[in-house]
Amino acid sequence: MTENTQRVVVVTGGSRGIGRAICKTLAAPGSKIFFNYFSPADREAEEAAAAETIAAVKQAGCEAVGIWANVAVSEEVTAFFDQIMADAGRVDVLVNNAGITRDGMMARMKESDWDAVLAINLKGPFLCTQIAARIMGKQHGGRIINMASIVGVRGNIGQANYVASKAGLIGLTKTAAREYAARNVTVNAVAPGFIETDMTAVLPEKVKAAMLSAIPLGRAGQVEDVAAVVAFLASDAAAYMTGQVLHVSGGMFM
Ligand code: NAI
Repeated sequence: MTENTQRVVVVTGGSRGIGRAICKTLAAPGSKIFFNYFSPADREAEEAAAAETIAAVKQAGCEAVGIWANVAVSEEVTAFFDQIMADAGRVDVLVNNAGITRDGMMARMKESDWDAVLAINLKGPFLCTQIAARIMGKQHGGRIINMASIVGVRGNIGQANYVASKAGLIGLTKTAAREYAARNVTVNAVAPGFIETDMTAVLPEKVKAAMLSAIPLGRAGQVEDVAAVVAFLASDAAAYMTGQVLHVSGGMFM
């Protein structure tokens, strides 16, 4: 591992929300941040969001590269990392942050909604981890941080696909932690609760109010609350932690 500065950091889903906050928090002079993003429903808006992330990271004196790539497609993940290696030659930190929801009661959940969520939220981190850990292993060190969710531990009505993907991601985290420990690659997960982003903005007001009332700290989480914990796990201070799940939920889950 290199020091906390001058690192090559890879963040999936870095154009908006928690991913953008992670890019901004990990931005340091001398470091390089590569992130991907993908949202075919409105490519123009997603490109504009990515440009905002790039500008914010550059303002911190850090290089930033944003690449349109779908984490669920093996060829696109390979091309993404090929570009990173051609440009920077190493990977010190991988944050598997990209994720989507396709909520609905299980009784009526479409198979396509199950497949889409599992492909992006679980297969994506698997594909990225396989490549990044191989690179990190050759460097004899690296950090992988997976964005899980408290619902992956406690379940949630109307989110069978999402919950299964996040529970799976926690299992993947622990297995990867064991498999790559000998190479000094640590693998941990962060499990946010209710964080104000585009993902939660679409929830009905009633659902938001119910969630807020279940948070002992009495407020919704901000993207910076999550990014700060990711920064800790990516730092030298967390060198002796692996296979852990850190909940960032204002006490919503304890
Ligand atoms: P968001 O919807 O604001 O942003 C999602 C990001 O992922 C965007 O940058 C988008 O371009 C990217 N993305 C989506 N599909 C992709 C794909 N196939 N390939 C590459 N990139 C893709 O989401 P938010 O809220 O920032 O969530 C980030 C992560 O945090 C997700 O994994 C989510 O499940 C997790 N999380 C969020 C919580 C919340 O309350 N917002 C709570 C718990 C977990």
